[in-house]
Amino acid sequence: MATNEKNPTTDLWSQWLLHGRDAGDPHLKQTLRTVVGRYIDRLLDGARLSPGETLADIGSGEGVVAFRAIERVGPTLRVCLTDVSEPMLRHAEARASALGVRGQCAFLCCPADRLAGLADTSVDVVATRSVLAYVADKTAALREFHRVLRLNGRISLAEPVMQDDALAARAMKAVIDSKPAAEVSPLMVLLHRWKAAQYPDTEEKIRLSPIANYSERDLIRFAQNAGFTDIHLELHIDLVPSVVHGWETFLNSAPHPLAPPLKDIMAERFTAEERELFERSMRPVVEDPRSVSMDRMVYLTARKPLP
Ligand SMILES: C[S@@+](CC[C@H](N)C(=O)[O-])C[C@H]1O[C@@H](n2cnc3c(N)ncnc32)[C@H](O)[C@@H]1O
Repeated sequence: MATNEKNPTTDLWSQWLLHGRDAGDPHLKQTLRTVVGRYIDRLLDGARLSPGETLADIGSGEGVVAFRAIERVGPTLRVCLTDVSEPMLRHAEARASALGVRGQCAFLCCPADRLAGLADTSVDVVATRSVLAYVADKTAALREFHRVLRLNGRISLAEPVMQDDALAARAMKAVIDSKPAAEVSPLMVLLHRWKAAQYPDTEEKIRLSPIANYSERDLIRFAQNAGFTDIHLELHIDLVPSVVHGWETFLNSAPHPLAPPLKDIMAERFTAEERELFERSMRPVVEDPRSVSMDRMVYLTARKPLP
């Protein structure tokens, strides 16, 4: 397995994937496993893998895409797991050994937009879930996917669309900035402070943010610019019962790996009175079993054309 010089045992990505996203709540961990499992099955349906093929799982994290693909296709599938996080590659490699599929796997430490170690036209399918959102140059990444794919090879992507969250933060800022301070509801100020700590809230910040500066339509353009054809995109928007109902879990959770949890935002940016107002207003909403959350996921498939 490729290693890097620093050889760290933990980093931002491993902290998030192994501890942060479930906020230390075992019930939420189990729920997220089920939810992510559904995304991955949808992603792999789009990949249309066959026995004997080679799959590159880009930004593989724990390896859930690669291992599910092996489970679906069987022992003749070969998978190459790539990630920028050495700790996550180590974790995935240990998991591959535990699952008895280490022999089908290769592990490469590299960014999605520079797949060093993957030769031209060497894979049949590139699949990636929730990775492009964190890549600054998405067209460069798609060009790399195109380069490593054989002719007629396929990509299948699943990405969250977080732009609407940033636009909501920007809208709150616009309302607050447009009124005298005395006319703005104190709760609105706190809601904006919370959201602005997790998402960009100005035009300029949104433009510079890899997580917020693209919509589903941009993904089509990136794929087209990289040379793909037969591009098909589905935007799934689901308004579903919220998976977080405990106040402690809510405080400890964050919507994406680059966002601080609400607990830290309140500790660092709220006064004691503001914390009290925020909890009094928000706790009943969070604990209401009827509370809902919005899930926006894009699935894109495309093909590398024959000459
Ligand atoms: C939200 S996780 C998704 C992990 C996995 N694909 C899954 O479906 O569970 C994002 C992953 O992308 C990796 N990552 C972040 N930036 C990357 C980049 N520029 N190139 C490749 N991988 C990256 C992280 O290390 C992490 O494993």
